[in-house]
Amino acid sequence: MSADAVELVAEIEELVSGGTQALAGAADLDALAALDADLLGRRSRLGLLKASLRDLDDDGRRAVGAALHEARRSLEEASATRREDLRSAASAARLAAEALDLTEASGRARVGHAHPITRTWEELEDVFVGMGFTVASGPEVETDWFNFEALNLPPSHPARSMWDTLYLDAGQFEGVGGEQLLLRTHTSPVQVRTMLRAVEEGSGPPIYVVCPGRVYRRDTADATHLPVFHQIELLVVDRSVSMADLAGTIETFTKAYFGRELTSRLRPSYFPFTEPSAEVDISQPDGTWLEVGGCGMVHPNVLRACGLDPEEWSGFAFGFGIDRLTKIRHQVEDLREFVTNDVRFLEQF
Ligand code: PHE
Repeated sequence: MSADAVELVAEIEELVSGGTQALAGAADLDALAALDADLLGRRSRLGLLKASLRDLDDDGRRAVGAALHEARRSLEEASATRREDLRSAASAARLAAEALDLTEASGRARVGHAHPITRTWEELEDVFVGMGFTVASGPEVETDWFNFEALNLPPSHPARSMWDTLYLDAGQFEGVGGEQLLLRTHTSPVQVRTMLRAVEEGSGPPIYVVCPGRVYRRDTADATHLPVFHQIELLVVDRSVSMADLAGTIETFTKAYFGRELTSRLRPSYFPFTEPSAEVDISQPDGTWLEVGGCGMVHPNVLRACGLDPEEWSGFAFGFGIDRLTKIRHQVEDLREFVTNDVRFLEQF
């Protein structure tokens, strides 16, 4: 074999080892395609060497031809291997980029539960049912008569301003007219409905009911007010019940719901439908007091409006804010937290 041929075989071996290394390090499929052209294309060094075979003698041509063939085979193999690697890396990267994060749905077990206010509502019902009360309800869209007039608040009574009321223009609805409709501002109209029904059906008094429900006021939301909130009304009508029974009922409830450590107090106040009237405060764990509602002895005019004789029957009532009770119990700073539906807040309960 000629010296030329020996040199060529050495060069080819060099090309193979350099080329294999370059192919293995190709950064991406584009870089690999460029290398393929450089190493294996018609104008590559291997391509040119093939053209120069004809200048060699038989032995040389055979040796260099075999080396060229071997070189092409191993470079093609190196290229194919790298292509395979790059493709699977690319698809892994694409899969990673397109992956949906389903940890919310499946990664961590998140067990739902009722809203803290719903829970309070249900617990309050349980406490009062345990004390012998039944549960009543009434409509959220009320007439002026039930929400105000029957509660000793005739039209233009100055105390109406205690409730910033959302009125409904019933004239817009066919078949509804005549009566002023509104969104009830408190659960007290359920007192009226309950007494009227008891008289009508001949089932009572005595009446011992609680009426939880949603109420509405034209108020701006802040830390201690919501325009849509919840109250629980309690009504007792029986023979010769007194303010002491009212205070005792509230204290019994406070201990049953909050535990032995908390206590209640009454502050003289005014409501048109009770006389005397009081504001109810409940002590908070930090020693301060939070107003949770109003109470009093049912006004004789209210009993009369419901067809009951005030000489025969007496009663007491209170209305508590369910949201505020929840706020005290869980020491929540701001009532608005209850309605923003932030799962990080709700999860704590
Ligand atoms: N209805 C009153 C209010 O919402 C609370 C209350 C209820 C007061 C029953 C006295 C008796 O402000």
